Amino acid sequence: MFDNMNEKQARKEILSVVEKYCDKYHNKGKEFEQGDRIPYAARIYDSEEMVNLVDSSLEFWLTAGRYCDKFESDFCKFLDVKYCALVNSGSSANLLAFMALTSPLLKDRAIKRGDEVITAAAGFPTTVAPIIQYGAIPVFIDLTIPEYNIDINMLEKALSPKTKAVMIAHTLGNPFNLKAVKEFCDKHNLWLVEDNCDALGSKYTIDGVEKYTGTIGDIGTSSFYPPHHMTMGEGGAVYTNDSLLNKIVKSMRDWGRECSCPSGVDNLCGHRFDKEYKELPKGYDHKYVYSHFGYNLKATDMQASVGCAQLKKLPDFIERRRENYDYLIDGLKGLKDKLVFSKASENSKPSWFGFLITCKDGVDRNKVSTYLEDNGIQTRNLFAGNLIKHPCFDEMRESGQGYRVVGDLVNTEIIMNDTFWIGVYPGMTKAKLDCMIKCIKEAVK
Ligand SMILES: Cc1ncc(COP(=O)(O)O)c(C=O)c1O
Repeated sequence: MFDNMNEKQARKEILSVVEKYCDKYHNKGKEFEQGDRIPYAARIYDSEEMVNLVDSSLEFWLTAGRYCDKFESDFCKFLDVKYCALVNSGSSANLLAFMALTSPLLKDRAIKRGDEVITAAAGFPTTVAPIIQYGAIPVFIDLTIPEYNIDINMLEKALSPKTKAVMIAHTLGNPFNLKAVKEFCDKHNLWLVEDNCDALGSKYTIDGVEKYTGTIGDIGTSSFYPPHHMTMGEGGAVYTNDSLLNKIVKSMRDWGRECSCPSGVDNLCGHRFDKEYKELPKGYDHKYVYSHFGYNLKATDMQASVGCAQLKKLPDFIERRRENYDYLIDGLKGLKDKLVFSKASENSKPSWFGFLITCKDGVDRNKVSTYLEDNGIQTRNLFAGNLIKHPCFDEMRESGQGYRVVGDLVNTEIIMNDTFWIGVYPGMTKAKLDCMIKCIKEAVK
């Protein structure tokens, strides 16, 4: 097949076949008909993603390489942020973001075991898991409805001499009150980690400047798992404007090492054999000097290659999510006596991950969800609902140790019992949205 071709030509030939294959066999869904499944989210891609993926596999570099570098640089440009570390999931991104704040390089601002981090119980478990895994204390405060975000009135009440950080998610794309949370963090010298996994592309205006969520606090995180705003299959990112935090994040991502030479590059820093560390032999190979107890959370070039193609589509994805949200709000406005719909926070322009609905008194959430599921409409709860009630918390809950709750979690409970969400992903068509509106009306009748 490759007679008279050099490697470059052969690769071009393969990629052109891949393009044709994708165009012919993928994305050839039939017209939507009532009763067809309407997922809450799905991958949206074309031949560009598949061509990139095959291109990276033909190179067979396998680990982080040129596509990872490109993605990190393109993602920084998109977010207007200085540093980005690509990782293998959003949960890894949260782990890294939190663990970076425990680095001794941060001196007295480093989070220590027993220190407290203000967060929310209604959300995704891996926003909270790193805090507990490290031995710090999550301090849970309630959310407000219909924003489904942290109640800023509880922040001062949650503060203690041990508070070191606030780590919370922008719920399903709706930015939390960044102005108030940032001011609180600045006033008390606390770190702010924005779990931006469900909010990529959301904007927030602070001090008259509109910025992407995830870039206003000290560290932001993203997830690229398939239902998210863009995908690499598995993947995530940690981003910051702080050069020291970036150095720590990269060190911890890459085994905890001191040296920043990429894999396969031996002496980029030019100091491989001339550094001195307290107890280490003089000139000990810098590539194997460890300044942190790290991990290996790197993503592969195959993942990044898909991400590079997805990133180009991201602005359009975000716009379509907004349009779909607006369409649902308009179509369901007659049901406000029965249902509560999520509302964009002040000063924000959400990039919605989903459409949150809370059933008012007399409307049974599980019955509504079951009716929708029976009609092919996929529904989701707001992840853990109240994380404290989950089996992973049994031991801590029963001993009353390892966490604090400030105020009551009334809305967290409502979210667990009465709230669900449906999709607004870019694969929605008008027919699918109309079908969802019709079925929700029938379900609450
Ligand atoms: C708010 C939030 N944080 C973190 C994650 C974890 O991301 P991943 O599934 O990529 O580990 C998710 C997952 O959906 C999430 O919703």
